[in-house]
Amino acid sequence: MDRCIYVCYSISMDTDCANLFLSKRVSGIRSSVIREILKITVKDSEFLSFAGGLPNPNLLEKELLLQATEKTINDSRDVAFQYGDSTGYEILKHHIQHSFTNGMDMEGFSICITHGSQQGLELLGKFFMEEGTNVLLEDPVYLGALQAFSPYHPNFISLPLESDGPNLLELENIFIEKKIHCFYSNPSHQNPSTITWSIEKRKKVAALLDQYDVILIEDEAYLYLDFFGTLYPSIHSFRKNRDLSFVIGSFSKIISPGFRLGWVLVPNRFLKVFTNAKQGNDLNTNQFSQVVISHLLSLMPLVDHLDKIRSYYLNQKQYLVELINHYLPEVSFQDPKGGMFLWVMFPNVLESEMMEGILEKKVVMVPGNEFRIQKSDSTYFRMNFSFLPKAEMEEGVKRVNQVYRDIIT
Ligand SMILES: Cc1ncc(COP(=O)(O)O)c(C=O)c1O
Repeated sequence: MDRCIYVCYSISMDTDCANLFLSKRVSGIRSSVIREILKITVKDSEFLSFAGGLPNPNLLEKELLLQATEKTINDSRDVAFQYGDSTGYEILKHHIQHSFTNGMDMEGFSICITHGSQQGLELLGKFFMEEGTNVLLEDPVYLGALQAFSPYHPNFISLPLESDGPNLLELENIFIEKKIHCFYSNPSHQNPSTITWSIEKRKKVAALLDQYDVILIEDEAYLYLDFFGTLYPSIHSFRKNRDLSFVIGSFSKIISPGFRLGWVLVPNRFLKVFTNAKQGNDLNTNQFSQVVISHLLSLMPLVDHLDKIRSYYLNQKQYLVELINHYLPEVSFQDPKGGMFLWVMFPNVLESEMMEGILEKKVVMVPGNEFRIQKSDSTYFRMNFSFLPKAEMEEGVKRVNQVYRDIIT
């Protein structure tokens, strides 16, 4: 099983003659190791997974969800079971505007509700990228963004991150050397590095984006998962040329990914074409989900809910940090202030060796090179702490430790 799974997970889908028939657009799409790992862990329940970015399902009030679903079926059938407005269900847009725009000035912007924030990324890839387009990405970068953008064959350029955001000199040099068309950034509790940009850097990057006329795709999937409730102002809020910014949000990490609901704040000058592209994609976002979540948000004390998930994840994070400090003192990571992950560097091992070993021991983490355009020699793994119960986390870390010790001794 061991080696076989490793080989299966590491080779992408381009293995058979299907390629002969495929368009160039889809032939280069990266596979998601995370989804492959999820399949393995679903099939074999002995696997302990630090791999997914899965919110803890026990944090959702079942009673309220039942009420919201009942209300949808009893009172809102006419809307919930029909096609809807392609930009989203009006009541849910109001909730987003009221509670999830972080005080942003919405003048000149519209909310478009999407099938997860992932659909927003895909649509923006379709919008702005084609062969040769220079697209700047953080290094490391969210794997799903690579999947969303790669069909359009842009020219990816990596921007290394420091502990408080990008190196500004390096960024400016890139802007001077190349005409960058878009910059995709995930500035709060970034997946996978967990880095959160300082406010100073947000301001300076906003000024550079204005100076060089760059489109910003700002992904705020983890904004509301700061352990202490800090809400960082978006990079976009410091721009003069606000019309060149798209801000992406999601209900996946704060409510549930099962509903597949996210949103994009779209500058009005792009709204018509964004809506047309979305219609070609799905006509409209899942109406039933949108209505249930609207009812849920009316019933749920949101502040209490967010406090509950933040303090639960903080506690889980602290536990994983303690376990790692105890069992694996050689590894290093930046202690995150929010989100769902640790980004851990294992010295003196190869990623492939570790991966093979941990799969054999039935424990999984995501190998760091999955989040990079150019492979790194360093061995990083992304470890999730939001999902596993504490006892399983401990067992998982013990197994990782055994593998690591076997390799380095
Ligand atoms: C940074 C980031 N952006 C976007 C997404 C997509 O999330 P969803 O489509 O569930 O909203 C994820 C999911 O893990 C993510 O980590």
